[in-house]
Amino acid sequence: MSTITRSPSPFFRCLLFFLLLMVCCRRISASPRKNVLFIVSDDMRPQLGAYSGPNFPSPIHPQMITRNLDRLASESLLLTRAYVQQATCSPSRTSFLTSRRPDTTHVYDLKSYFRKVGGNFTTLPQYFKKHGYESVGMGKVFHPREASGGDDPPSWTLPYYHPSNKPYWTTTKRSWYAATPHERKKRPLPDEQIVKHAVKMLRKLAPKAKSGQKPFFLAVGFYKPHLPFVFPEEFLAMYPPSEIHLPPNPYAPENMPSIAWCDYGELRDYDDIARLGLSGDINTTVPSNVTLDLRRAYYSAVSYIDSLVGTLLAELDHLGLAQSTIISFVGDHGWHLGENGEWTKHTNFEQATHAPMMIRIPGLTDHGIVSDQLVEFVDLYPTIVEAAMLGTLPVCPEESSHIEVCTEGTSLLPLISSNYTERKPYAFSQWPRNGTMGYTIRTSRYRYTEWPKFRSYPVYKPIWSALAGVELYDHQIDPEENRNVANATQYATICSKLKLLLHTGWRDQQNIQRLIFKYNV
Ligand SMILES: *[C@@H]1O[C@H](CO)[C@@H](O)[C@H](O)[C@H]1NC(C)=O
Ligand SMILES: *[C@@H]1O[C@H](CO)[C@@H](O)[C@H](O)[C@H]1NC(C)=O
Ligand SMILES: *[C@@H]1O[C@H](CO)[C@@H](O)[C@H](O)[C@H]1NC(C)=O
Ligand SMILES: *[C@@H]1O[C@H](CO)[C@@H](O)[C@H](O)[C@H]1NC(C)=O
Ligand SMILES: *[C@@H]1O[C@H](CO)[C@@H](O)[C@H](O)[C@H]1NC(C)=O
Ligand SMILES: *[C@@H]1O[C@H](CO)[C@@H](O)[C@H](O)[C@H]1NC(C)=O
Repeated sequence: MSTITRSPSPFFRCLLFFLLLMVCCRRISASPRKNVLFIVSDDMRPQLGAYSGPNFPSPIHPQMITRNLDRLASESLLLTRAYVQQATCSPSRTSFLTSRRPDTTHVYDLKSYFRKVGGNFTTLPQYFKKHGYESVGMGKVFHPREASGGDDPPSWTLPYYHPSNKPYWTTTKRSWYAATPHERKKRPLPDEQIVKHAVKMLRKLAPKAKSGQKPFFLAVGFYKPHLPFVFPEEFLAMYPPSEIHLPPNPYAPENMPSIAWCDYGELRDYDDIARLGLSGDINTTVPSNVTLDLRRAYYSAVSYIDSLVGTLLAELDHLGLAQSTIISFVGDHGWHLGENGEWTKHTNFEQATHAPMMIRIPGLTDHGIVSDQLVEFVDLYPTIVEAAMLGTLPVCPEESSHIEVCTEGTSLLPLISSNYTERKPYAFSQWPRNGTMGYTIRTSRYRYTEWPKFRSYPVYKPIWSALAGVELYDHQIDPEENRNVANATQYATICSKLKLLLHTGWRDQQNIQRLIFKYNV
């Protein structure tokens, strides 16, 4: 006997196809793929209402007026202890937009382009583009010009947008400026133009996003609160001078090695600051009256950006996209407002490396989840990809210059689904200075930093035996990092353990986690 295998008749084939089509279409319309609104703000430290408390070591006074970001935080996974991998624009942005650390991107400055010096990596927006999304960017997402080959063309499906911002950058002769309504009418501020464009773009993208035909990845990069602090005048009124205080620690840490210091040249370049004739030397800082003005202007600029974020969120609601759009908000790194006597970023201290991060995932974070687990900015990319159900990124091998998609971070989604305490209990950052590379590890209690001599191209490796400085800050008793206790005898054992952890590095994840729990640091 022979078995006869018959293929279905043409009629049945048609019927089958039709049924499949119906099932597929229903699935698409029942759960369209989620859109992404990716917001990044320049030089914004976690000085938001949502961050007050022990995880923001500099006391927040005055009460910050950041209603919109606070509301977003209350519907998000709010990461209260997120650390950037290098505290300046391009290295940090390149790192979190490729999910690789500076020693892999080889971007340590504001000029190098990762596709030239690191590898042809698939960026976060490009990943969505490859998955059929409309990807569109505006303002400062990548660091502009040569640092990104002009906003990294492979990342976007639609033309990139820049506001006309010249007038406000060329009046940069002053470190801060409150623009009058009249001036803004004549020349809208760059970030106001960006939001206007973003709203227009959302309206354009909404129909296809809602029908499930073409979801979007919309990246909005705000320029403020970067220097010069230029903002609409009305925001100044939110912060009366009587409510502005000096930083509690306007001096360099005791026993700080000189290599750890940044001379805040970026601030001293502005004419009003240059006139003060500051040296930028260790343990000198900006005079108190100017410090108060700068702090007030910074807070105003933060509230200004908050209001623009509010405009974006309101439009998303209005278009009926709020429930189908993942929103992430980050600052690209922190900022010293006179704490440790320091200004700007460019250090390995808490104030420079700690930045805001919140991720709103409809259906998963609606009631808000606050996590004080240590997280790193390289974790952002795999988290957003997983939240959009576009897969899990493989971990990059040691040599990954030829691999387009991989991660040197880990997804943060476990922080949503469980009260997961055994996540990676460390965060690494680095800062290059004077031929050395300051490597720092933050554990739940300590910050430990070494400044080894660094071999750059083509090796990109530290020489751990040649150190220009060592720092240890014990956050349990010194959350402001005022005392380097690396040489104190009672910390000798801790130091040798943290040294081992720093040299072990993030890559040996199982080993470093085991050591951290074993040593209880
Ligand atoms: C970089 O990768 C993209 C695909 O992601 C490819 O189209 C392009 O040709 C590559 N460029 C180089 C210089 O290898
Ligand atoms: C800076 O000044 C403070 C306060 O006077 C002092 O305690 C500290 O040792 C100084 N730090 C350095 C690195 O000189
Ligand atoms: C700490 O000790 C090392 C080695 O003895 C020495 O080179 C360094 O100057 C000391 N640093 C401080 C801040 O005392
Ligand atoms: C920079 O390095 C040179 C040579 O290694 C050294 O002489 C100089 O003191 C260093 N400068 C700082 C600020 O550490
Ligand atoms: C700060 O005070 C100094 C002297 O007390 C004064 O010369 C200067 O104009 C003041 N600067 C500002 C911005 O208020
Ligand atoms: C999560 O765990 C921490 C530490 O064990 C505990 O303090 C906290 O209440 C827990 N949160 C929830 C939502 O269970």
